Amino acid sequence: MAYSETKVVIGGLAHIPIIIGFFYLIRRQYSFGAMLRTGKNALSEKVKAAPAKAAAPAKAAAPAKAAAPAKKPHSDVPVNTYKPKAPFTGTVTENYSALKEGAIGKVQHITFDLSGADPDFKYVEGQSCGILAAGEDAKGKPHRPRLYSIASTRYGDNFAGNTLSLCVRQLQYEKDGETINGVCSTYLCNLSPGDKVKISGPVGKEMLLPDEEDSNIIMLATGTGIAPMRAYLRRMFEPTEIEKHKWNFKGKAWLFMGAPKTANLLYDGDFEHYKSKFPENLRYTKAISREQQNTKGGRMYIQDRVLEHAEEIFNMIENPKTHIYLCGLKGMEPGIDEAMTTAASAKGLDWSELRPKLRKAGRWHAETY
Ligand code: FAD
Ligand code: A2P
Repeated sequence: MAYSETKVVIGGLAHIPIIIGFFYLIRRQYSFGAMLRTGKNALSEKVKAAPAKAAAPAKAAAPAKAAAPAKKPHSDVPVNTYKPKAPFTGTVTENYSALKEGAIGKVQHITFDLSGADPDFKYVEGQSCGILAAGEDAKGKPHRPRLYSIASTRYGDNFAGNTLSLCVRQLQYEKDGETINGVCSTYLCNLSPGDKVKISGPVGKEMLLPDEEDSNIIMLATGTGIAPMRAYLRRMFEPTEIEKHKWNFKGKAWLFMGAPKTANLLYDGDFEHYKSKFPENLRYTKAISREQQNTKGGRMYIQDRVLEHAEEIFNMIENPKTHIYLCGLKGMEPGIDEAMTTAASAKGLDWSELRPKLRKAGRWHAETY
């Protein structure tokens, strides 16, 4: 008897887990059904809740949006006011040689009257414009526009704010014993006062000057690459310019200019004059390739001058207020890079790392052609 009673008790106890399991299953089934009906379970709510939580910072960030968005530097500089398909027609006011006797080739300083433009043809120092040469190409189509760096400040050579000047070298080369003249450069160099010219632009923000009056500006130019530098230097040192814009340059400017002969140095008299008036603010270093020799006995190029002054240049570059501008022959870029690499390594720096950083910081400006 005792034996059979014990068996019943043990048998009853053995059913308890089965009964608990049964109730558990029913509950689970109920929950699963509810989940199917509502399309959500505890987990999914958590997941859904997460974005709600994550959304909170977005709300918190909203005031930043409400505050005035930081203005991109130079965002108000005009670009493409006149497109190549609808150019402005300017009038030539002067066209004279920028070279001295004995110089090689033909380089002209040409000024256009922009008055009557509607909208105004406004530009700033460091921009370029497009020129559409008169006539047609070999296929009977209008010539494609060619770009030229603007050599005047926004006030123009006459300070009236209604002209634009260029510095143009006539492209000439020999082919099969024949002299070939560049289409647009020849057209420009041969213009006379009163001629009408189709001008597009302005274009480009790569070569703009910084706003800060205490910036340092290093300029590396070959030939007509001097055009934007002339505009910068006029803005910095031409008395009437300073009076007009109240931008009082207080930094150091250093121009490296490459030309084949002394007679080819463009605007040299103006720059020498600025240097004599502002000796603390302007340095002017020339590389006259066919009259001077580098240390290896070759032609003196601006990269050779950069190497000579490497330490001073790098001391300036270490200052975040220093900007470097490069304009002119495309061929000078590898030479400049090589010189900078040598100069950098003398200071234990890696130019291949430094240059992209300078560019990203908006301190390395290059326009070569
Ligand atoms: P094209 O008739 O267009 O002939 C040029 C073509 O001739 C070349 O594309 C090439 O195919 C060929 N060619 C050239 N040289 C040789 C050679 N040695 N042998 C064989 N074939 C050759 N120029 C200035 O004078 N001043 C400036 O301020 C200036 N600023 C510029 C700014 C920018 C941003 C750019 C991109 C260019 C600038 N230029 C400047 C150059 C200018 O745009 C023209 O490229 C230049 O004037 C030649 O144009 P072209 O119509 O006279 O020559
Ligand atoms: P060169 O022609 O004697 O070799 P321009 O446009 O008036 O001809 O002036 C361009 C200047 O740039 C010239 O002195 C020219 O020298 C020089 N030049 C030519 N090739 C390079 C180069 N690869 N790097 C730097 N300067 C150069």
